[in-house]
Amino acid sequence: MLSEAIALPCGVVLKNRLVKAAMSDELGDGVGGATEPQIALYRRWAEGGAALLVVGECQIGPEHPENCGNLVLQPPVAIDRLTRLTGAARAAGAEIWAQLGHAGALAPPVTGPPKGPSALRVGALEAEALSDAEIEALPETFARAALAARQVGFTGVQVHAAHGFLLNQFLSPFFNRRTDRWGGGVENRSRLLLAVIERVRAAVGPAFPVAVRLNVEDGLEGGLDLPDALAVVERLDGAGVDLLDLSGGVYFPGAPSASDRTSSGPYFLEAAREVRRRTAVPLASAGGFKRRADVDAALASGAVNCVGLARLLVLDPDLPTRWLAGGEEAPAFPRFKDPPEGAVTAWYTQRIRAIGEGAEAQGGEDAADALAAVSARREANAARWRARYG
Ligand SMILES: Cc1cc2nc3c(=O)[nH]c(=O)nc-3n(C[C@H](O)[C@H](O)[C@H](O)COP(=O)(O)O)c2cc1C
Repeated sequence: MLSEAIALPCGVVLKNRLVKAAMSDELGDGVGGATEPQIALYRRWAEGGAALLVVGECQIGPEHPENCGNLVLQPPVAIDRLTRLTGAARAAGAEIWAQLGHAGALAPPVTGPPKGPSALRVGALEAEALSDAEIEALPETFARAALAARQVGFTGVQVHAAHGFLLNQFLSPFFNRRTDRWGGGVENRSRLLLAVIERVRAAVGPAFPVAVRLNVEDGLEGGLDLPDALAVVERLDGAGVDLLDLSGGVYFPGAPSASDRTSSGPYFLEAAREVRRRTAVPLASAGGFKRRADVDAALASGAVNCVGLARLLVLDPDLPTRWLAGGEEAPAFPRFKDPPEGAVTAWYTQRIRAIGEGAEAQGGEDAADALAAVSARREANAARWRARYG
């Protein structure tokens, strides 16, 4: 099934079942624009053969970024390099979608205090609550970002409601302690996500892919659990979603994050089977796929229609081409001894940079060194971002 095309509800056809899962590449110019290494990166991944590349964490505005090395899709966007980035992927035959993100309570405090559904002080996290008017304005901001994405040549968008960022925070009782119409039961907690999807769909029309990345569980005490996630899925059914991309975990101390896990997966297939019973929307899931046999089994079982690969495609951007030609081999994941929190992801961030800079052949560094390098660059990007938007 790997090489079978699939038509999404909007009519767009994915040429095979492999998706380059969303990854913050941190290769932007530090004020939301694209760079030459970023263009080279997406060309390389598109040439690698996946049907779809999702560009991680394209920010819907500069106020609450997940990462100051990523793109901003708030109009007016600098069209030139972005259009070349999407054009490079399209020329190589891939769909390229923008993941629309707002980090909410987990944003670095670059332009002001982070704001999420509720005021929170937990450990190092200090966030203010969004006002009702600020929440009301969000669907329109997402819709404008989706239009900007389409304008610069993205062929679809993915609304990011996973990994502990804003729309996941609204779904999660850990972050969302509101007592108004945005908080409480699942109906209220999912109100914002549904409003965002409705507004985005109305803006882009019926023929443009609108996907959602959703946590099936936060893995955080008091966070979103599977029963509530399934209730959200039922509410999303019929909302005009083209692909539901299932993930889990949050970037918050004490919780597992999908990208820092070293255990073998796939992580979310059991949950996907439950989701499948509740919706007809095409499903994808990323997380812990390490072998072609696992990908084939996931597709053959019907649990998902597409499989997302993140770290494997950092280790080997050409993997889809080889698998689609019948190959079985996959690169081994590097092993790290007691890596500090975030270091595994940072190591991959460094490898992504190496691909973009044409330095793939160079050996990978130690995970702790990677974390130090990534942290230093994040600070430099945050300073640029603050100077521009603060
Ligand atoms: C360097 C890196 C950056 C990531 N950035 C994002 C992101 O921006 N948005 C997102 O939804 N997931 C992000 N992820 C998570 C991946 O999409 C994926 O869910 C996770 O890595 C598990 O899949 P894998 O086992 O194939 O790596 C990131 C992962 C890595 C390694």
